[in-house]
Amino acid sequence: MQTAPDTASSTCATRTEHAFELILQRSQMRLPVAPGESMADVLQLAGVPLETLCEQGVCGTCVTRWLDGEPDHRDSCLSSNEQATHLAVCCARSHGPTLTLDL
Ligand code: FES
Repeated sequence: MQTAPDTASSTCATRTEHAFELILQRSQMRLPVAPGESMADVLQLAGVPLETLCEQGVCGTCVTRWLDGEPDHRDSCLSSNEQATHLAVCCARSHGPTLTLDL
């Protein structure tokens, strides 16, 4: 995993954050995501395979299909059409209490 520099152009983690629960449909797992914690970090700590590269919402490496909830998209790699079905796990969050991914 490569660490990208923290730049002013980053769209990740720049807004108010709240905790939510990440639901993994295929893995049948529910994982809490705390404010300031990324979904990518939570998945990696839980042993769920997820490739990341930039961790800034730029490269698209971590893009995953979401199934339910209201994602707070913070990437700059997906079009609004793509965001209707996918999100960048490294920097998206949830507007609601739960977010379900196709993992
Ligand atoms: Fe690059 Fe998520 S790791 S967009």
